[in-house]
Amino acid sequence: MAESLVIQGNSKEELYQNLFPQIKSILEDEKDTIANMANISACLYETFRFWWVGFYRVVGDELVLGPFQGPVACTRIRKGRGVCGTSWQREETIIVPDVDQFPGHIACSSASRSEIVVPVFHNGKVTAVLDIDSELLNTFDDTDKLWLERIAALLIDKNTNP
Ligand code: SME
Repeated sequence: MAESLVIQGNSKEELYQNLFPQIKSILEDEKDTIANMANISACLYETFRFWWVGFYRVVGDELVLGPFQGPVACTRIRKGRGVCGTSWQREETIIVPDVDQFPGHIACSSASRSEIVVPVFHNGKVTAVLDIDSELLNTFDDTDKLWLERIAALLIDKNTNP
């Protein structure tokens, strides 16, 4: 495993292009999902300095807080609630340019202004979501969606403890 992250790129696209193979290599020899979620959170946080980056895992009929980087967050979210619970229910990525315009948004932190939530699939079912919050409006776009879905897919086939 690489000892440290090399952060390189003049654009978001370049940063993701450079980051992706590093995440892949870090995850390669590790099957533990929690460990891999922890390192994905750290890689994204270190590269982009997002306000909050982390995972919620599906446990029964709720999402439960998993590995993350950033301020203390809500621990449990029900299916269909907030951006995370809605992404789980719809089984699709949700980009929220302005959290105040998303009905039912759960404000774990009042500093959060925009958000993206990407579902993680295992055997065709959502087993977790990757949630990223920004303290700025309109932070996330289709570039984030594309790369974060690729990063989330690296957890597929690795779920020893989903
Ligand atoms: N805003 C999320 C809740 C999780 S926190 O942002 C870390 C939501 O509406 O589901």
